[in-house]
Amino acid sequence: MTFSIGATGSGMGPGHALERFGSDEVEGRAFNAHVVVRFLAYLRPHWQRMAAAFLLTIIGAALALASPYLLKVAIDGYITGGDAAGLTRIALLMAGTFVGVYLTSAGQQYLLAWVGQRVLTTLRAHLFRHLQILPLGYHDTHIVGVTISRVINDVSVINDLLSQGLVTLISDTLVLGGIIVVMLSMSPRLALVTFSVLPLMLLATFLFARQARVAFRQTRSRIAAVVGDLAEDISGMRVIQAFAQEGATQERFDKVNRANRDAYIAAMSLSFVFLPSVEFLGMLATGVVLWFGGLTVARGELTLGVVVAFLAYVTRFFQPIQELSQLYTTLQAAMAGGERVLGILDTAPEVKDKPAAGEMPPIAGKVELRHVSFSYRGDTRVLHDVNLVIEPGQTVALVGPTGAGKTSIANLIARFYEVTEGAVLIDNVDVHDVTQRSLRRQMGLVPQDPFLFSGTVADNIRFGRPDTPIAEVEEAARLANSHDFITALPDGYNTEILEGGVNLSIGQRQLICIARAVLADPRILILDEATSSVDTMTEALIQDALRRLLAGRTAIVIAHRLSTVRNADAICVVNGGRIVERGRHEELLARDGLYRELYERQFVDIKTEVNN
Ligand code: UTP
Ligand code: MG
Repeated sequence: MTFSIGATGSGMGPGHALERFGSDEVEGRAFNAHVVVRFLAYLRPHWQRMAAAFLLTIIGAALALASPYLLKVAIDGYITGGDAAGLTRIALLMAGTFVGVYLTSAGQQYLLAWVGQRVLTTLRAHLFRHLQILPLGYHDTHIVGVTISRVINDVSVINDLLSQGLVTLISDTLVLGGIIVVMLSMSPRLALVTFSVLPLMLLATFLFARQARVAFRQTRSRIAAVVGDLAEDISGMRVIQAFAQEGATQERFDKVNRANRDAYIAAMSLSFVFLPSVEFLGMLATGVVLWFGGLTVARGELTLGVVVAFLAYVTRFFQPIQELSQLYTTLQAAMAGGERVLGILDTAPEVKDKPAAGEMPPIAGKVELRHVSFSYRGDTRVLHDVNLVIEPGQTVALVGPTGAGKTSIANLIARFYEVTEGAVLIDNVDVHDVTQRSLRRQMGLVPQDPFLFSGTVADNIRFGRPDTPIAEVEEAARLANSHDFITALPDGYNTEILEGGVNLSIGQRQLICIARAVLADPRILILDEATSSVDTMTEALIQDALRRLLAGRTAIVIAHRLSTVRNADAICVVNGGRIVERGRHEELLARDGLYRELYERQFVDIKTEVNN
């Protein structure tokens, strides 16, 4: 038997999306005790229901075994003897077993669904909790679509195995074993003759399982490629349309989509070859029983009832075998999925509170970077020996060319990443020695790329303090100069924000982010200004809002606006990961260095724009 699997030699190159999104497929082992043990723990809280499901399974299996035997009793004991009352009893008994099978199966399915959905929810919750404490560095380097696929697809195959799979395994093994025992006890000779098709069966199953393993692995990595490609293209839709690349993008998607289809068809055709061949072997066995059993009955060595019972058992015999071989693919999918999910769960949060980490006391506002060096992924350094002291209440502007390391410095002060060398101190306390929560609660951040969640405008402003009354929300919005434009929105503060805030302009988004920071009332504020993305009116509003926001706090402002820079207590010029100049606006201008150059090239443009 040879199966063709689209993966090899089909000429359907994997396409680059597959390489990017589907290549971290774990080599699927059929069984990995470590994975199984880790996930079995999720069944523990539900052991009573699982035990009940197992019990129902065993009863169901026994009942299923009983009916062919009742057939034999009916034929040999009552039909041939013409015992009508006995026949009625048997018929009732049989009806009873069918009702029993029905009830046990319904109960078992319900219990398994109940447990299964709870395991699924818990597992997803654990994954999500872990994703939230993983360092930003993890999310920087992992494709969103693939992480989504872990939380949705992989978790559900693990659950398939844990709930349905385990029970199928047990009930099928019981049924199979039971049938063998009953057959052997009714007629050892006929049983052995029937079992003569078994070697063929085993061979077919073995061949199938071996091919299926490769084929189903292909389908899994290709569906991950489809999800990954889709997620990226949807978030990049604006760029795709702007550059009129719909055609090329469609082509790329079609390619992964078709690759997924072909892999799936290839995997399914294995089943289409295998399942009928099992059926064929079943019919072969039926023929053998009919022929050999018939001859034995004719010779008077066996009763008709036994042969009929055998015929019934033979048809039941092959279903568990089919199911078990299918279970093998579930097992593999679950092992591969399980390894990947554990890959996330076992990724240690790089920024971790020390066991002895204390609470950060109320912050006065001194910020110090001491000999700080940093690299994002252990490769190239992006900051080199940065030293910086900001006194409480001061505003320090960071300026410098793009890619200089300004946002990186901000990231370290907020402790989104750990310094590679040196230390960040706040009020002379190493940020390492306190909990992240107690630190971040006293810090505010207005990111370079202002992010809004779906929900109302008000909810976005009170994101850091969800139970803030609306009056305070409005107060914060007024301070941030956002109140006027918010009230002009169709539903005012209750206007629903679309995903990513697309129904607001970038300047409006930034004003809302500033209001969010005002409400949080942080002691230290980090403001990563978006580059000149606002009109001069809004610019003035933001400036005014900032002036109020910065008063009385320590502020690190990554500045692109001349006015912000001018008003700062100190300006640090960052270049190539180093602070190369420091001083006030006039001092730096007089120095005739990088600042002057930047000023002349960059700020003057803005200045003339502002003045126009
Ligand atoms: P920054 O993001 O600190 O630059 O990146 P910047 O000064 O704020 O630049 P603009 O003005 O916003 O454009 C500093 C260096 O760190 C690398 C970048 O390649 C850049 O050279 N970097 C940044 C990473 O390696 N990984 C990141 O996640 C971010
Ligand atoms: Mg930046």
